[in-house]
Amino acid sequence: MPSVFIKTFGCQMNERDSEAVAAQLVAKGYALAASEHVADVVLLNTCSVRDMAEQKALAKMTHIAGLARKSGREPILGFMGCMAQSRGKQLVEALPDVDLVLGTQKFHRAAEYLDELLAGRRDKIVDTDAEAGSQAAIREHLLTGNDKKAISAFVSIMQGCNQHCTFCIVPFTRGAERSRTIEDVVGECRELVSRGVREITLLGQIVTSYGKRDYPVKDGRSAFVQLLEAVHEIEGLERIRFTSPHPKGYGDDLVEAYRRLPKLVESAHLPVQSGSDRLLKLMHRGYTRERFLSIIEKLRQVQPGMGLSTDIIVGFPGETEADYEETVSLCREVEFDQAYLFKYSPRRDTPAAAMPDQLPEEVIEERHRKLLVIINDLAARKYEAMVGQTVQILAEGPSHRNAARYEGRTRSNKIVIFDGSERHRGQLMDLRIERAGSFTLYGDPAVVGME
Ligand code: SAH
Ligand code: F3S
Repeated sequence: MPSVFIKTFGCQMNERDSEAVAAQLVAKGYALAASEHVADVVLLNTCSVRDMAEQKALAKMTHIAGLARKSGREPILGFMGCMAQSRGKQLVEALPDVDLVLGTQKFHRAAEYLDELLAGRRDKIVDTDAEAGSQAAIREHLLTGNDKKAISAFVSIMQGCNQHCTFCIVPFTRGAERSRTIEDVVGECRELVSRGVREITLLGQIVTSYGKRDYPVKDGRSAFVQLLEAVHEIEGLERIRFTSPHPKGYGDDLVEAYRRLPKLVESAHLPVQSGSDRLLKLMHRGYTRERFLSIIEKLRQVQPGMGLSTDIIVGFPGETEADYEETVSLCREVEFDQAYLFKYSPRRDTPAAAMPDQLPEEVIEERHRKLLVIINDLAARKYEAMVGQTVQILAEGPSHRNAARYEGRTRSNKIVIFDGSERHRGQLMDLRIERAGSFTLYGDPAVVGME
């Protein structure tokens, strides 16, 4: 029985794709290897969003190939995902030890191609073609062992993005928007719930654009809100999350959904990218600072305890000190619970890479350093403010930080660590927050609520 090791770079979509590939391979009789050093097949699921992510995957593959050669092993080596898609056969040319390059519409072909490579029927396979219907092929789950995903699972609802933000490579690596049907998504969610899942996160590159071409607006409700309603009906499901939305997708129907649908937890990721209208326009984001702030305000009106996270890019071409200060002031105004800060990285084929006034590395570094301090400080205050409150958590499994303790998340998406055990897995519990650490809360076991 061949064994496979999959290493994932990048976002939750990639985590989910890797899980689906692993589950498909397990179903075909593969074993999951404990490390890349012992596996018969090593797959790197790659990210292209920033250059650094690509460099890391390339270095990792070079390292794995080198070690294998030294030890006289000849594992099958493959790249899959975004960099596989965007670099294609260049990868086998640059790294002759690589046998397989599997694009983002081909995850479901992994077993078939590996069989051919392992049997020696083919020497190298590069497949980055488009494939109709591939968005519905990411559906298998592992849900095994002590994995916390057994309680909380990701479901991919769509692939691709048509927004073409000028800095972003995703529309090239993931292709145009294609959605699964509502029935298909609900079917997968039901199956997961029947296997013990209590929380589902709906995934896509721009989930708020879900089903636009397939489902007309009904009673003022977008296709995405229609999907949320359908998933909400599933008995036994406790919580619904989604990522990544686009701020422009927060119409009143979605804002209202937070009021109407109790399973839709009060947590939202709204990638703002910049606080400067001038830059938002150059980025082709499709909203202004004012519109963004009005969405935040509406969400907070509906759910005052809304947990808000965002993505920010510093150092976009032409970003002036004044533009940067606008981003700082936006962060201070919103007080995000969590902000993911990125240094601008020029990506091939994107319009921004060809814009004038690319900023020097030192300026980007400096702004990144300064803003990181500010957003972490704002977030720390948000976490501090929760001390003394009693919050509902969904217990997911042993803590990632300390396996002797248990962890769960609040509805607003904050991790809470507490003294729990297997009997708490999957339970909704009320905990009193005793202490706040770095992006973590600690709940007191003495006041663990009902079970
Ligand atoms: N909606 C997508 C966005 C993917 S990229 C999703 O979450 O699936 C995630 C984040 O990476 C973006 O929101 C942006 O902040 C950052 N990013 C994208 N392209 C970038 C680039 N060229 N340089 C730096 N950061 C970038
Ligand atoms: Fe990228 Fe913008 Fe789409 S950030 S994934 S092009 S919404």
